[in-house]
Amino acid sequence: MVTLTIDTVKNPNLMNAADDKTIVQEYFNSTGFDRWRRIYGDGEVNKVQLDIRTGHQQTVETVLSWLQADGNLANRSICDAGCGVGSLSIPLAHAGANVYASDISEKMVEEAKERAKATLGNTGNPKFAVQDLETLSGRYHTVICLDVLIHYPQDKVAQMISHLSSMAESRLILSFAPKTFALSLLKKVGSFFPGPSKATRAYLHREADIVKILGNNGFSVQRQAMTRTRFYFSRIIEATAKDLGANS
Ligand SMILES: C[S@@+](CC[C@H](N)C(=O)[O-])C[C@H]1O[C@@H](n2cnc3c(N)ncnc32)[C@H](O)[C@@H]1O
Repeated sequence: MVTLTIDTVKNPNLMNAADDKTIVQEYFNSTGFDRWRRIYGDGEVNKVQLDIRTGHQQTVETVLSWLQADGNLANRSICDAGCGVGSLSIPLAHAGANVYASDISEKMVEEAKERAKATLGNTGNPKFAVQDLETLSGRYHTVICLDVLIHYPQDKVAQMISHLSSMAESRLILSFAPKTFALSLLKKVGSFFPGPSKATRAYLHREADIVKILGNNGFSVQRQAMTRTRFYFSRIIEATAKDLGANS
């Protein structure tokens, strides 16, 4: 996912020395939490945030529709890595999947737990944890990581996808901000504007690179989609283990 408003893009060169994960974690436990909890909610927001909310909701619905179309959601084990406030985990659990939902931000997980309780009651599904996705373990039928990779540079993304692949028995679903000419330009323009930013860095990724990383980890692309609104861009890829079909 990318939300390339001026206030959401920092110049990566200014912060190269800092550790991405620490910055991301701090952001989503502070100003980022307030911002994204509102965007991923149903209360009043400004026009840009409303556009981002609409785009993100489309991404969630695309993934849900893929899983539901396969007709085998009930009792599937699903890992939602970087679950945020549970926008995907909660409907997945509602549809009967066994969901393990984790996020590096304690605040996001607290909010997700509250939303799950309000929607589903005390079912224990999804099972939530505060965890960096690279420390996750176990095996799941499907591993999903939506709108998280945007926070990390190419080398880190390769490590993350490799780790997520190792946990996916059958299928991986990822989204990322595609490195297209238009988005690169928009990002460059955004970085010309000085002033305090409310966001972490935004990294764009080449689709060919992501597909190659998936291939190196034994996964090949089955389905893909693009969500594009005015301020939100997210390329969604479903990849299955090369020796298995999409419905296995
Ligand atoms: C833009 S939000 C997307 C949340 C959710 N996937 C969704 O689509 O609704 C990005 C989330 O990724 C989480 N995140 C970032 N880096 C992470 C990491 N290394 N491990 C786990 N979660 C991470 C953030 O805390 C934040 O909640």
